[in-house]
Amino acid sequence: MANKPKMKGLILAGGSATRLYPCTAQISKQMLPVYKAPMIFYPLNILIKAEIKDILIIVSPAHSGRFVNLLEPMFRDFGIRILSTVQEVPNGIAEAFILGEGFIGNDNATLILGDNIFEDVETIAKAIKNFKSGGHVFVKEVTDPERFGVATVDKKGNVINIVEKPKKPKSNLAVAGAYVYDNKVLEFARKLKPSIRGELEITDINRAYLRRKKLKMNIVNGEWLDAGTPDAYLDACNLAREKRLYDNFDPIIKKAIEKSRERFKEQAKKMLR
Ligand code: DAU
Repeated sequence: MANKPKMKGLILAGGSATRLYPCTAQISKQMLPVYKAPMIFYPLNILIKAEIKDILIIVSPAHSGRFVNLLEPMFRDFGIRILSTVQEVPNGIAEAFILGEGFIGNDNATLILGDNIFEDVETIAKAIKNFKSGGHVFVKEVTDPERFGVATVDKKGNVINIVEKPKKPKSNLAVAGAYVYDNKVLEFARKLKPSIRGELEITDINRAYLRRKKLKMNIVNGEWLDAGTPDAYLDACNLAREKRLYDNFDPIIKKAIEKSRERFKEQAKKMLR
């Protein structure tokens, strides 16, 4: 009998982040500090809270190696395997499932965008842990829905449509950057064609699940933002401080940071000798 599929985790941390240039000339956006930890720790926290043990970080060629150099030794002792792969060109969010096909194998997959910061980590982690099949997205009311994938929902709270960056949005429910899928996502990703803006759209994956009536959603509470512009980045730092998001890091993350801080201090001492 085939094994029950596991849940694998992917974090998309590629792109060129030109809106944050020159801050991102030498360092990846997802490595910039968001108050007490690099940005990537916030999506990582969701995956670790959801008890995911295999995590693939998708990075741009300029920053390949850096994420794994930091994170792999940090989490190895805690039974969490961190790998990375390069996305040569930002061909779209859904390309994550093409680049991650070998890593995902026959399993399910959760993708989180590396610059998305959620206050309500619990709702997402719980949905990942309880996931059975189909697709699952998370929505949030926003004042500027035209910047996002926009969901329309019926009276029972079922998603009935999702449109990518509509000029005239039919709701103010933005689809946030966290997606949970069964293994069918690999087939849907393989069949995608680039959109008018030339990208493999995550919205088209969601629409493939919708057509089969297999897409569920949760509303996320609290704040959510993507830290892609200087203002949004500053908001992310303030949010992390004001809401003490760091305190809500999973105990594994806190222990991993402490352990690696000790190693770092030891190394610093040796260098001074
Ligand atoms: O933030 C949520 C929104 O993210 C969703 O509501 C939209 O449906 C979805 O399309 C996406 O919208 P954007 O067009 O604003 O995504 P953006 O191009 O800013 O990419 C999001 C992050 O993913 C960013 O940190 C860069 C990274 N990325 C993006 C692309 C297209 C990659 O690493 N590789 C890529 O190919």
